[in-house]
Amino acid sequence: MLALLRVGVAWFFWHDCGPHEATLNWPAVIVLGIETSCDETGVALYDTDRGLLADALYSQIHIHAEYGGVIPELASRDHIRKTLPLVREVIEKAGIRDAQIGGVAYTAGPGLIGALLVGAAIGRSLAMGWNVPAIGVHHMEGHLLAPMLESDAPAFPFVALLVSGGHTQLVCVEDIGRYKLLGESLDDAAGEAFDKVGKMLGLPYPGGPEVARLAQSGKAGAYKFPRPMTNRPGLDFSFSGLKTFVRNTIAEEVEVQGELNDAVRADIACAFEDAVVNTLAIKCRRALEQTGLSRLVIAGGVSANRRLREVLGATVAKSGGELFYARPELCTDNGAMIAYAGAQRLLAGQSEGLSIQARPRWNLETLPALNP
Ligand code: KG4
Ligand code: ZN
Repeated sequence: MLALLRVGVAWFFWHDCGPHEATLNWPAVIVLGIETSCDETGVALYDTDRGLLADALYSQIHIHAEYGGVIPELASRDHIRKTLPLVREVIEKAGIRDAQIGGVAYTAGPGLIGALLVGAAIGRSLAMGWNVPAIGVHHMEGHLLAPMLESDAPAFPFVALLVSGGHTQLVCVEDIGRYKLLGESLDDAAGEAFDKVGKMLGLPYPGGPEVARLAQSGKAGAYKFPRPMTNRPGLDFSFSGLKTFVRNTIAEEVEVQGELNDAVRADIACAFEDAVVNTLAIKCRRALEQTGLSRLVIAGGVSANRRLREVLGATVAKSGGELFYARPELCTDNGAMIAYAGAQRLLAGQSEGLSIQARPRWNLETLPALNP
């Protein structure tokens, strides 16, 4: 795999590059962002002056769909094929020259190690070839800061609900790099629960958006599912019991009526979505009360969920607060959030040496503050 990568990067420089001068054009800088932590290759160019210049995404979903989940080795191999062409695509789309790029940000973790290594090796090599600084970005920090790319960006401090396929976390955010974990899932992440319930209902991978679509035609209240860990204090989550509850309900219905008809499947999807959204809303309200903050940011793939946005919007408005989120394509994995987060850190003078970073697990709280 790495041999293939070396050939690819060598081709890139041979094909394209003349000599590059170091272009540390502080305080404005154009940063190339590369996201390869899971099953999406995302590449973007962010200009700290002009905002997002170009964004390109290649989803591997069709490759993994037949297995019902992500196959890590297939993910890595596909990132190798797609990353450099996407880099070329965003540079062309943005209408800039390579020499105008002042820094490279790549996702350094958490995620699939092979997939991370592809983005890290390509990102670091490009930065070396261009003679600009590089930085490894925490994937969840990328998600957390994605709403900053919108015109109505939240001001610090705020509470962030991070809800993706791998994480469900409530974080008190004082500033970039000043994160305090308030609570997290003890087992399945919210997105993972959506994906597993989607599978149980016979929906294609990834199940989250499919369950949400099916839930729209369901009858509210036809089933009542538990709201896990809401009847005791604390801000942790657990979704695996809810998932088992859904599995048992499906098994009972199948026993009574044979194969489930579309209306029953939609009612179950609706009750499941309602249980997850309600549970998240109860915990978000608690987190705001506990911290005394009024702004809530939601980020990560599940924050694209319409019902979640509606319910949280109403919850926050009741206490005079405000809800912030990014447009749906910036909620799921993308290169723009990595370019943005990396740009903030590069502007603050943070960057890395020539070695690459790739961390399958990485605690958000250990990140350095932007303004120590
Ligand atoms: O942030 P993301 O793209 O990748 C990770 O970092 O994990 O999140 C992907 C997750 C998947 O579990 C997907 O099913 C879920 O987000 N998702 C949704 C929706 N859109 C994506 N879940 C519920 N409703 C949605 N509309
Ligand atoms: Zn993600």
